[in-house]
Amino acid sequence: MENTVQSSLNYYDNEPERDAFLNDVTLGLQKQAKELPCKYLYDERGSILFDKICELDEYYPTRTELNIMQTYVDEIVARLGQNVLLIEYGSGSSLKTRVLLDNLSGLAGYIPIDISKEHLLNAAAKLKKIYPDLNVHPVCADYTDLFRLPDDIPSSASRVVYFPGSTIGNFNPGDAVKFLHSINNIVGSSGQLLLGVDLKKDPNVLHRAYNDRSGITASFNCNILTRINRDLGANFNTEQFKHYAFFNPSHGRVEMHIISLADQTVQINGSTIKFATGESIHTESSYKYTVHEFTELAGKAGFTVERVWTDEDELFSVQLLRAGAS
Ligand SMILES: C[S@@+](CC[C@H](N)C(=O)[O-])C[C@H]1O[C@@H](n2cnc3c(N)ncnc32)[C@H](O)[C@@H]1O
Repeated sequence: MENTVQSSLNYYDNEPERDAFLNDVTLGLQKQAKELPCKYLYDERGSILFDKICELDEYYPTRTELNIMQTYVDEIVARLGQNVLLIEYGSGSSLKTRVLLDNLSGLAGYIPIDISKEHLLNAAAKLKKIYPDLNVHPVCADYTDLFRLPDDIPSSASRVVYFPGSTIGNFNPGDAVKFLHSINNIVGSSGQLLLGVDLKKDPNVLHRAYNDRSGITASFNCNILTRINRDLGANFNTEQFKHYAFFNPSHGRVEMHIISLADQTVQINGSTIKFATGESIHTESSYKYTVHEFTELAGKAGFTVERVWTDEDELFSVQLLRAGAS
């Protein structure tokens, strides 16, 4: 079944190997300040939990970004132009993308790229049903690593990278510049990048967004331990770890951590990792920017900000960037 879906969708598999996962986990947990790369939050269950987060009252980013897209879609598609090849980084359920797919005329194709393979394939299969004439080329890959785009994509189309969800905030500013450079190379000179950037705001609003009452964000965060147990044969006692998230003003970021509730040891593929009571694993950062800060950052990667759309409370921004010399 999965293979049929894959071939009808021109699926490209660059899924990261288990060894890379093991290596990153072992290295991250052997550091003095323990950490895990946030990309590993997204296995099949992690992606489903993230979709639930997007529906929470406390989690303002998704509905705010979607509203901005819907309000300004005419201007957005006019600026993107015709014969667009839409390449989406971290496409997830491709929910906001539908605003573009419904309104862009003469679309040359859609390439959703995501690390979470099953979720990517399900989302792409659903899109193919809704848009049967659309060329959909899902690519499972880690976009922070080298990966190949499909060979058979139209070369004459103008490339637009779409990067919603404020996922750019998961990079520290230095890595964000490097990452934007790589996107600059993908779109080519005068290509465009349309992305969602979460804005600096009242820390209490941020605190609520990452500490929802129903505990879905906590489940999403701690699911990484369940995944390590399953995929790497580790023995985390998940009852003995707890979600912890807060806004760190000196870094301008929300930090998600998992805190050990006891002195304990965990075995991972022959390595023993010790945890003291209260010790943390840093699992994700979400940097927040002012419009001015992000314009400066994008400039370092050779992008010019052409247009910024925000909601009336200035919680979130959708920004259109034009590539230049990178
Ligand atoms: C914050 S979610 C955003 C999802 C969706 N774009 C949205 O706006 O709701 C981040 C998405 O990026 C994907 N992702 C995270 N790190 C990735 C990586 N290194 N390579 C590819 N995909 C990644 C996740 O699987 C997830 O679907």
